[in-house]
Amino acid sequence: MKTLIQNGRIITAADDYSADVLIDGETISAIGHKLPLAGVDKIIDAGGKYLIPGAIDPHVHMELPFGGTVSSDTFETGTRAAAFGGTTSIIDFAIQYKGKTFQQTIDDWHAKASGNCAIDYSYHMAVTEYRPDQEKEFARVIDQGITTFKLFLAYPGVFMVDDQTMFRVMRSAGEAGGLTLVHAENGDAITLKIAELMAAGKTEPKYHEESRPPVMQADGTARALRVAEFANAPVFIVHVSCEASMIELMRARDRGNAAYGETCTQYLFLDKSYYDKPDFEGAKYVFTPPLAPKQDIEQLWKALKLGYLQEVSTDHCPFNFNGQKELGRGDFTKIPNGGPGVEDRLSLVYDGAMKRGWPLTKWVDVCSTASAKLFGMFPKKGTIAVGSDADIVIFDPNAKRTISAKTHHMNCDYSLFEGMEISGKPTTVLSRGKVIIENGQYVGRKGDGQFLKRGATIGV
Ligand code: URP
Ligand code: ZN
Ligand code: ZN
Repeated sequence: MKTLIQNGRIITAADDYSADVLIDGETISAIGHKLPLAGVDKIIDAGGKYLIPGAIDPHVHMELPFGGTVSSDTFETGTRAAAFGGTTSIIDFAIQYKGKTFQQTIDDWHAKASGNCAIDYSYHMAVTEYRPDQEKEFARVIDQGITTFKLFLAYPGVFMVDDQTMFRVMRSAGEAGGLTLVHAENGDAITLKIAELMAAGKTEPKYHEESRPPVMQADGTARALRVAEFANAPVFIVHVSCEASMIELMRARDRGNAAYGETCTQYLFLDKSYYDKPDFEGAKYVFTPPLAPKQDIEQLWKALKLGYLQEVSTDHCPFNFNGQKELGRGDFTKIPNGGPGVEDRLSLVYDGAMKRGWPLTKWVDVCSTASAKLFGMFPKKGTIAVGSDADIVIFDPNAKRTISAKTHHMNCDYSLFEGMEISGKPTTVLSRGKVIIENGQYVGRKGDGQFLKRGATIGV
């Protein structure tokens, strides 16, 4: 199958120019002007639109068991929603439950994802215990194309690791050419604070924020960055939500360390005043880390622009308000942590970036290219180039829309961005050469998405 996309304006992280793109099978075979029509099966006119590499969301949690319930998007529904929003690759987290080997963990995640995804997918290996007998398994994980490891410095008794484990995992990952991702907080101090708040009858959603403020995230971030320095290994801080944590990252990068980080869409648009919403509505915004003070929002945008943060993910981990978030009425510790977002990221970041005068290339970088490089997928993913996978989004910069749970495709009964009016919308989405979104309709099939074997990190 040969597809020719004509008249588009190609935007990559490096370039902004007009040309046609020829796709042969799953990959891009030519880019140029007046490309021959001979043998072409399908022509798509992209006049007035941008052609960008398919967006990559490297931080999602589909059907994740958490807090006595399960995140409400399956790999099928969540990846379809992602496709609507112009995301053509996701990386989920295969979480090692206590007593399981890495291989059992990978197999469990394959059982959920395989044959169900609309777009390409991979997992980070979330290590919760690292027994000496597992050291040999590291290489086997990497051989399967899982080159990134995740550690939690939060959720004690469930996912949290101690500092020795952090050090050993970072060292093993670094030696193998891998990258360690860290959820950086001070889980122990936060646990005590939570107990004190609950004992004082402070049970509403807003106390989730009070129990884990920026200073506790900055503490975890500083510790993770210093331990990575000690292990001589690269490190990536996930879901940086506040200026205090970002500053620790900035300092580590200024010291010359291979230290990277992301923020998420919710932290770029929402602030902690959302926890004051009446009728338990603040529970919709209970995720970890929580929303930060309003003044931090602009600092995060600046950090992205200046390269102190490298990309924007969603930490998509949806729970319905009815029946799931409600589990925590009268006890904020029982509100499942997480929110929906995988569908709206590309458009939201476009809208925010344009309002701040960013070049289009930077928008593409933080939504696609930087993740492709850091998580070992470049140049197969993350760019429009001859030989790359034909993951292409045709994006209408002038389309306007209002975000709403009534029209989104995520399996969640609310939107974090309900009523927000934004410009820019993906109109056509191709995944490895196949059109999967056309005229606002999903035209792909469950199982089109393939497991992505990833390689070594390319530092950015
Ligand atoms: O609240 C969140 N972020 N839930 C998902 C798990 C995590 O910490 O990333
Ligand atoms: Zn986390
Ligand atoms: Zn997460």
